[in-house]
Amino acid sequence: MNSYIRGIGYYVPEEVLTNQYFESYLDTSDEWITQRTGIKERRRAAPDENTSDLGKRAAEIAIKNAGIDVSEVELIICATATPDTLFPSASCVIGHKLGIGGVPAFDLAAGCTGFVYALSVADAFVRSGAYKNVLVIGAEILTRIIDPMDRSTCVLFGDGAGAAVVSATEEDRGILGFKLHADGGYGNLLYLPARGTAMELTEEVIRKRLHYTKMKGNELFKIAVREMGSVAVELLDELGVDKSQVDWLVPHQANIRIINALAKRLNLPMDKVVVNIEKYGNTSAASIPIALGEAVEDGRIKRGDLVLMVAFGAGLTWGALLLKW
Ligand code: COA
Repeated sequence: MNSYIRGIGYYVPEEVLTNQYFESYLDTSDEWITQRTGIKERRRAAPDENTSDLGKRAAEIAIKNAGIDVSEVELIICATATPDTLFPSASCVIGHKLGIGGVPAFDLAAGCTGFVYALSVADAFVRSGAYKNVLVIGAEILTRIIDPMDRSTCVLFGDGAGAAVVSATEEDRGILGFKLHADGGYGNLLYLPARGTAMELTEEVIRKRLHYTKMKGNELFKIAVREMGSVAVELLDELGVDKSQVDWLVPHQANIRIINALAKRLNLPMDKVVVNIEKYGNTSAASIPIALGEAVEDGRIKRGDLVLMVAFGAGLTWGALLLKW
């Protein structure tokens, strides 16, 4: 039994924040942001929108594209670092909003690598025969945990969601393999000090802005370039697939310079790389399913194509997954 993505969908909130928006109140420029990151704009969720709302919208599209009824979903996994609340989990809320209470649901926290981790979990459940249709979601509202006054982070991140229905098939297609890694020793390079149990949310904590994400971008950049390349090569070698056989690279969208370096390491021309960072910035666990969803929707990714996903994120976590579309 193989597992494959039977349907994919994505949703991004309507409000667009351009680089000019940040120029209007911060010491930054469209030129700096574009050259250093490749980002031109990103989306921001409306005040009454929560992560579960974005996830639900993406899930509905994925379910429709899979051609199944919502009642056929047997498990929900939501990869997110920004659930509506610490508990209940975003996946439980999404299940309720989809009207499928009773279906098992859990969140998965692996930072920007979350969707790749979640796909690998779904693959294991489907291959074991436990479930036939698993709804995998990556959904984030990062703009609520980023300091709007910190120019080194607020220009990078955006909100959005992507979802996939992972189903069982006996056909020769689907997830071929994955490689996952994590190293908590690098945790302090990208973290949210407060809002968890480590630090009570006091007035002083808020005054020190410790309820916002802290990042050492420069150090992360170097590790991302090194580890994303290594894990991709490690996976391809293990599967006996040559780099030249990869039809599409769908990388996590954190920085165009990281994506360029990864493509170079894999000897892939940029016309085989799915890039949408200019429109959405870094949407963390949502970035790969949004990019995949767009490339499937516009016909770039076709049945039989070899698609390589490579991600990197807070934890630190990193991983790669190869599938035959
Ligand atoms: N506008 C203008 N200047 C900015 C700025 C902004 N938005 N953000 C930072 N700068 C400044 C810095 O203050 C620094 O100034 P200084 O030299 O006077 O101290 C200068 O630009 C260079 O900063 P540096 O951090 O070395 O730049 P960089 O080339 O590494 O680019 C990132 C910064 C964040 C774009 C880049 O490091 C990156 O993308 N890292 C990976 C981050 C990431 O992917 N995080 C998520 C992982 S999933």
